[in-house]
Amino acid sequence: MEIEQPKGRLGVLLVGLGAVSTTFIAGLHMVRKGIRPAFGSLTQMGTIRLGMRTESRSPFIKDFVPLANLDDLVIGAWDIFPDNGYEAAKKAGVINPEDLEVCRKDLESTLPMKGVFQRDYVKKLDGTYIKGGNSKWEWAEKLREEIREFKTRAKANRLVMVWCASTEVYLKESPVHNSIESFEAGLKSNDPLISPSMIYAYAALMEGVPIANGAPNLTTDILALENLAEAKGLPITGKDFKTGQTLMKTILAPGFKARLLGLHGWFSTNILGNRDGEVLDDPESFKTKEESKLGVLDFILQPKLYPDLYGDLYHKVRINYYPPRGDNKEGWDNIDIFGWMGYPMQIKIDFLCRDSILAAPIVLDLILFLDLAQRSGMKGIQEWLSFYFKSPMHSRTVYPEHDLFIQLMKLKNTLRWLKGEELITHLGREYYD
Ligand SMILES: NC(=O)c1ccc[n+]([C@@H]2O[C@H](COP(=O)([O-])OP(=O)(O)OC[C@H]3O[C@@H](n4cnc5c(N)ncnc54)[C@H](O)[C@@H]3O)[C@@H](O)[C@H]2O)c1
Repeated sequence: MEIEQPKGRLGVLLVGLGAVSTTFIAGLHMVRKGIRPAFGSLTQMGTIRLGMRTESRSPFIKDFVPLANLDDLVIGAWDIFPDNGYEAAKKAGVINPEDLEVCRKDLESTLPMKGVFQRDYVKKLDGTYIKGGNSKWEWAEKLREEIREFKTRAKANRLVMVWCASTEVYLKESPVHNSIESFEAGLKSNDPLISPSMIYAYAALMEGVPIANGAPNLTTDILALENLAEAKGLPITGKDFKTGQTLMKTILAPGFKARLLGLHGWFSTNILGNRDGEVLDDPESFKTKEESKLGVLDFILQPKLYPDLYGDLYHKVRINYYPPRGDNKEGWDNIDIFGWMGYPMQIKIDFLCRDSILAAPIVLDLILFLDLAQRSGMKGIQEWLSFYFKSPMHSRTVYPEHDLFIQLMKLKNTLRWLKGEELITHLGREYYD
């Protein structure tokens, strides 16, 4: 596979300049300056084994595939509030005040462009910094113009977009989403089934920009935009960053299944007090999130194949908005399992996590891997990036892969494949034959 080298600057367009985006930007600057480590990032810290175990070849991923240099990333953003990156980070309350001062200038220099926003899609927010007019088609045109201007202003050679904005209300794929033609007609007729995130995604793809979706919204997960990505030769990926409770779920559930331990129930509840929590306090936005969180266990446990172990599993997920906690979420899980002869046991998890600290390295990896995919000529859905998502986008002919360890193997094998290295199957007969 021919991989184009990453020459020049990579422009990064973040939709939404909230907790995740500002934590990513702050961390990026700290890592660049060597003040803080890039913990949690596979592209920066991960290694990849090549060849046989006897060869001792395990380079860093960033030395193995040609990724963009962190110094070459230039950030642009949209939001529906006018706060610059510093003010937004301060409000998000993730980064401590001393660290905020260290990267103040870098954060202040990120000024959002006016967002495309309609309250029908995020009921809990009242955006004050939004584009005028009321034509979806004109908004798409305006976004396209801004993308081109940003590329020139940033002197960027290539661009990548990441949706880090609020979770929109639940929408189902419908006829208007079925083809590029019906979608464009829908933009022109202001079809209510076309949400702002779809307008950003359409604008990005029309401008030759790959896009990753960090929220559970439908966005690019519709035939029209999948086809557009294919037609334009662009990679797309999503949905919903896999952090916190779902990350734990996709680490633990494969283990239970591997040891054939049964599950009666898995009750998950959270308290969080950031803006994301406030948005998810609306039942319609929560429904989008809930669908994303609930799917995970079914696909990992395969109750149809293992009815005695997982056929009667009761799975419940709750998110409670609790302002005093800010971004420092607390997630509890009560897991009722059973083993030998059906004897019951319980596992309790109390994860005091920091949502945006877990999400920021995912944003970085997605930017670098999407750019790599773009330079490698990989188009359409990038299933190898499932590792990063709660609801991985996948070909319509297969079910999604949720097991974190299979996802990692898939990701690393894709990198090996890109570089013409042998895939690792873990068979290992060669050490004995
Ligand atoms: N660990 C995590 O933090 C995590 C995990 C999975 C998914 N997510 C998702 O990532 C997204 C961002 O999370 P966050 O904690 O940064 O939320 P946040 O509320 O702090 O930030 C979202 C930002 O998007 C802006 N926004 C909303 N609609 C917009 C629009 N149409 N155009 C431009 N800007 C818009 C909001 O004003 C806000 O500043 C959310 O959808 C969240 O569900 C986060």
